[in-house]
Amino acid sequence: MSLPHPPHRDFLNIADFSSAETFALLALAERMRVGQYSKKPLAGKALAMIFMKSSTRTRVSFEVGATQLGGTAHFLSPRDVQLGRGEPIADTARVLDRYVHGIMIRTFAHADVETLATYAKVPIINGLTDLSHPCQILADILTIQQHLGDVRGKTVAWIGDGNNMANSWIEAAAHLGFTLRLACPEGYDPDPRMLQAGLASGRVHLLRDPREAAAGADVVTTDVWASMGQEDEHAKRALAFALYQVDAPLMALAASHAIFLHCLPAHRGEEVTADVIDGPQSMVWDEAENRLHLQKAIMAVLMGNEPL
Ligand code: CP
Ligand code: NVA
Repeated sequence: MSLPHPPHRDFLNIADFSSAETFALLALAERMRVGQYSKKPLAGKALAMIFMKSSTRTRVSFEVGATQLGGTAHFLSPRDVQLGRGEPIADTARVLDRYVHGIMIRTFAHADVETLATYAKVPIINGLTDLSHPCQILADILTIQQHLGDVRGKTVAWIGDGNNMANSWIEAAAHLGFTLRLACPEGYDPDPRMLQAGLASGRVHLLRDPREAAAGADVVTTDVWASMGQEDEHAKRALAFALYQVDAPLMALAASHAIFLHCLPAHRGEEVTADVIDGPQSMVWDEAENRLHLQKAIMAVLMGNEPL
């Protein structure tokens, strides 16, 4: 007998929650962060976690988060599950939803996550694809609100690769109402469709000069030059991104209250210098912690009937 499957929703992209719902989700995560939430909405429920790529933060924060909410989490790696030997995603979806109440997936092609969502009768949560990383961006916004107040009206400077993180920042800027200045070298722009939508919103600006992006910004953020799956391009990318390092002179151009964010893992001496990431403006450890609170809020809402 299959599990009862109430109507459900997925979190594949930032815009899967309306802007009002996203602010309510952030408020719920903030209650969790400050210790004002002790319910167990996942009691008796299970989360499957499919990781086709490596992870420290995403894995541990989902696993611990599910436990704190009263549920269990089950780590599935391609070395162990049949997906890694070619079992179709559609079949995996129709099997897992007989056992669990939600599935988090980290993989390469975004289309694979959409296929999982099409076939599974339980909520699907995007834990990073080549296209986007929405859980991380909402945790970053929680961190901005923790340190600087309401994100609306703030200016975020993205320095470096137009990668999955940049794409989700673009989606968030248009959706939630803040300014995003992207400084990417030519040839490394974000996803064209997401970029066009962001530019059309008037909230997103594509620049080439990191200094122009950082000037007066409230938040300066960056990411690795070679993402997972691009390891063999590292040398070529190190040349292309040489002028896109976040260092102390770049941070000095931002607002005096500016914070530095990085989703981690970081490469000191490449996209960021040690004095910045280990310095007083860096909030990267709070940012990493906020993955836990934000994802607990997502699981409570999608899997545990917590209202928004
Ligand atoms: N930032 C992030 O998603 O980290 P992990 O790759 O360790 O999960
Ligand atoms: N852009 C990075 C983010 C890691 C959390 C990657 O995809 O590897």
